[in-house]
Amino acid sequence: MCGIVGFTGSRQAAPILLEGLKKLEYRGYDSAGVAVLDNGSISLAKTRGMIKNLCEMTHDGNDIKGCVGIGHTRWATHGVPNDINAHPHLSCDGRFAVVHNGIIENYAQLRDELIAHGIEFKSDTDTEVVAHLLEYYGDEDAKTAVMKTASRLVGSYVLGILCTDGSGRLFAVRESGPLILGIGVGENYFASDVTALIAHTKNVIYLDDGEFAELTPEKITVYDCTGTAITKPVSRVVWDVEAAEKGGYEHFMLKEIMEQPRALKATLEPRVKNGDIVLENFELSDEELKDIDKIVITACGSASYAGQVGRYVIEKLCRIPTQVEVASELRYREPIVDHHTLLIAVSQSGETADTIAAIKECKARGARTMAIVNVVGSTIANLVDHVLYTWAGPEVAVATTKGYTTQVAMLDLLAIYLARRLGRIDDERYAQLLTGLQEMPSKIQRAIDLNGHVQYLAERYYSNQAIYFIGRNLDYAVCMEGALKLKEISYIFAEAYAAGELKHGTIALIDQGSPVVALACYEPLFDKMVSNIEEIKARGAKVLAVALEGDKRIISQADDFILIPKSDPLLTPIAEIIPLQLFAYYVAKANGCDIDKPKNLAKSVTVE
Ligand code: AGP
Repeated sequence: MCGIVGFTGSRQAAPILLEGLKKLEYRGYDSAGVAVLDNGSISLAKTRGMIKNLCEMTHDGNDIKGCVGIGHTRWATHGVPNDINAHPHLSCDGRFAVVHNGIIENYAQLRDELIAHGIEFKSDTDTEVVAHLLEYYGDEDAKTAVMKTASRLVGSYVLGILCTDGSGRLFAVRESGPLILGIGVGENYFASDVTALIAHTKNVIYLDDGEFAELTPEKITVYDCTGTAITKPVSRVVWDVEAAEKGGYEHFMLKEIMEQPRALKATLEPRVKNGDIVLENFELSDEELKDIDKIVITACGSASYAGQVGRYVIEKLCRIPTQVEVASELRYREPIVDHHTLLIAVSQSGETADTIAAIKECKARGARTMAIVNVVGSTIANLVDHVLYTWAGPEVAVATTKGYTTQVAMLDLLAIYLARRLGRIDDERYAQLLTGLQEMPSKIQRAIDLNGHVQYLAERYYSNQAIYFIGRNLDYAVCMEGALKLKEISYIFAEAYAAGELKHGTIALIDQGSPVVALACYEPLFDKMVSNIEEIKARGAKVLAVALEGDKRIISQADDFILIPKSDPLLTPIAEIIPLQLFAYYVAKANGCDIDKPKNLAKSVTVE
């Protein structure tokens, strides 16, 4: 995933572009660059490494003159991170510069075609073919060159294009990736994400796939794929700059952990009115609901682990067979789905390539589709029949926290809603669950208040090379997310394991002092977990237990423990994950890891 920005107006462009790129650095940070039009020619500055390198190289952009330009921060897909492969890329005649997010799947064929026409390539990227195609089609006006170029591309391409003809014109093209236009006064913008725009404007236009826009300081014109001008609604961004900044916390991840009570409230409150659940954009009739004989939840990473929690709750309440399929597997498994299947995609960014592909595969086979996403206007939101937004606000840290808990809450809310409509739960159970869900923001806050205790424990476990997470039923589902959190920001090996499975092999790994995090919050299987803890203690394990306030038996068995507030067993995972998020954060901090930008990772994996 990469980040792109564009500016056209009467102010110097480069400093504005660099500030925008800093807000997009979570999307990729192995190289960065800007291109600015100055007196009819394009000035280019790009370099390997983080954006701060580009800022130092250009004195925060003040060395580059001009009032219209484009910028890019990269997560390499084709061509190693170096100065040459950094974007923007120029056409040979210097008339066009381009930045790109996505993958051009037919770039090799286009490259051969252009080389046959005498074009000399400088980089190893797929993107460079766009710059040369623009030149190839550039004999006519720039808009025609953009349309003809886009018509040759196959794959995902979100493009920002700067051209030397026409005063201050930019073009922005959207295909399979996010692209937002910002409307200013005497200036206009584009960016991959609203966070790069809200310092300047909250009036935005969300482009859809197949559309492109022409931006001048005075006007934005949006066109469909035929080049016909179309009218697009202007949206008002509801959060402010502070919401996208660190707010005084050392890391975005810690800020976003602390934001979870508010994020949960913002997600739930608009959907619970007078003791009833109201789900927007969900028009399935009672007959259509009764017609569903299978639910498939598909996602990647943490979103799939939110799905694992949702699966237990949906099956328990709705009694509909529910399976969780990792999207990168589902897309190639010739899935057995049809119009009796409800596909639920879960994604924070709404741009994860494997999840998009899995949705398309299931849609083509007749499945009804819905999605739980956090980004308005994202590709997945536009792809499905029904979209339910988690109103968590911008999530910048690569390791998701509020994205995950709001996904779990949405799945719980959906399960309660479906169970009620299907008549699988009575009014009393419905009210009980709804009340329990509305209490979760305060339960999360009480779990967050364990921050100091968890930090103390983390500083006793941080030097381990491997840590096991064990649990049963919903606790096991939470183990999966707890293990991933630890792995992705502290680089310590961690594995989630069904506690009942230990004796079938893995317990062979338990030695004197082996650290095991044991989740024992699912009360119906509480006694079984006590036995499992006894088993591993007998073999020397050092057990950190997460249990419920008031528990006596677990804490008598464990070496260390964290007690979270009690809630309905089906809703406990929302609070149970909090200490595991904090544990991972403080272990990573103790190890001096780059918590917000873990190595090898990007916030959203928009390529295969
Ligand atoms: C979670 O901390 C990771 N950043 C990663 O597993 C992420 O959940 C996954 O890539 C899915 O992203 P999405 O929710 O944006 O689709």
